[in-house]
Amino acid sequence: MSAPALRVPTAADADRWFELFDDVEVMRFIGSGEVRDREYYTGLVARQRELAEATGLCLFSVLADGEVAGFAGIHPWSHPWGPTGSLEAGWRLGRRFWGRGSATAAARAAVGLARDRGVPRLVSMIAGGNDASAAVARKLGMAPVRSHRSPEGLDVEEFGLTLD
Ligand SMILES: CC(C)(COP(=O)(O)OP(=O)(O)OC[C@H]1O[C@@H](n2cnc3c(N)ncnc32)[C@H](O)[C@@H]1OP(=O)(O)O)[C@@H](O)C(=O)NCCC(=O)NCCS
Repeated sequence: MSAPALRVPTAADADRWFELFDDVEVMRFIGSGEVRDREYYTGLVARQRELAEATGLCLFSVLADGEVAGFAGIHPWSHPWGPTGSLEAGWRLGRRFWGRGSATAAARAAVGLARDRGVPRLVSMIAGGNDASAAVARKLGMAPVRSHRSPEGLDVEEFGLTLD
């Protein structure tokens, strides 16, 4: 298996993201845990394409052996609570792609792009109990900096990474 590649998501990738993430296990630790409809991912991909155009960074599609496996990348933390104004590193793969090191490899590549663009600092917001995601953050060199309570009542740990 070759290392996963990143690409700015194409409009067609919205359908891949919807199919991969229409899974309660994938969404278990994200927001309220509810799956999103196809239109949500159409909008999400459109926003990533605009972000990439403006900044060179976005939630990129992760390609594993040429197949869309999910996303990994850098995007503004867009909620009114938590680390407002921060850039967040995020990752989400379809279940059949878990456990191969793909999220870590893809996220590491995205962090490298952020570093190349002079981003000074990244956060990742990870719900309590999402041990696989916390393991990815730690493997990237991120460390917990503070705890938050989300509007849905979840405990969420803010991980931080200073880039040099
Ligand atoms: C989080 C996620 C992206 C990880 O993807 P992945 O490709 O399996 O991640 P990696 O293989 O790169 O690394 C996962 C690490 O977590 C560890 N891990 C996996 N499940 C674990 C668990 N239940 N408890 C503790 N560690 C766990 C793995 O052993 C691995 O660490 P290691 O390399 O030291 O052995 C994937 O599980 C996912 O998409 N989850 C649903 C979406 C999500 O929660 N995204 C993050 C939101 S903050």
